[in-house]
Amino acid sequence: MIIAIDGPAASGKGTLAKRIAAHLGFHVLDTGLLYRAVARDIEHAHFRLDDRWAALAAARNLNPATLDDPALRGVPAGDKASVIAKIPEVRAALLQYQRDFARQAPGAVLDGRDIGTVVCPNADIKIYVTATPQERARRRHLEHQARGEPATYEALLADILSRDARDSSRAIAPLAAAPDAIHIDTTTLDADAVFASAVRIISR
Ligand code: CDP
Repeated sequence: MIIAIDGPAASGKGTLAKRIAAHLGFHVLDTGLLYRAVARDIEHAHFRLDDRWAALAAARNLNPATLDDPALRGVPAGDKASVIAKIPEVRAALLQYQRDFARQAPGAVLDGRDIGTVVCPNADIKIYVTATPQERARRRHLEHQARGEPATYEALLADILSRDARDSSRAIAPLAAAPDAIHIDTTTLDADAVFASAVRIISR
């Protein structure tokens, strides 16, 4: 069984994906980490992010064991990820890993931007999670404060708006809801309410 969860930056899709996976005993993959890690590896190799050859090499050689690197968290890593995520060869190189991950028994939950549309168009359940940019910036701000990382609400809102624009307007696999996705607007819902609503969708 495959559950695809897509949505814009800081919409709560990662939290939801982890909770569903824990609830069902499924594997879980935050596919944003793949793009964050490719950008990290390009820079570690001293290439520029717009160097397609270096980006493709980094995507092909990506070691999934390095996805828990704390350096992949935060605003700069997310921005760099959305720059290299526009490169078609990078997306193509990461596709098979994601599809193989999705096929694992007893099931898998993948969250990202194009899971229901491109990576797993035949997913059993597709959920598209949204919230207003202001609410998403407020949540990111709380996360940053909890980790003791300096970032203003205004800067986080600006980042969310620019990343949404970049992710939605790119030519390949843009951020989009699959036609058969069920939408959850989390603007006024806390994590427990979002989880409860997803569990209702899955049990239907
Ligand atoms: O956690 P947050 O929503 O802020 O970001 P993320 O899911 O880690 O994704 C970082 C960036 O990777 C996004 O802004 C996208 O540009 C890109 N991405 C993508 O293109 N396709 C995916 N399936 C996942 C992420």
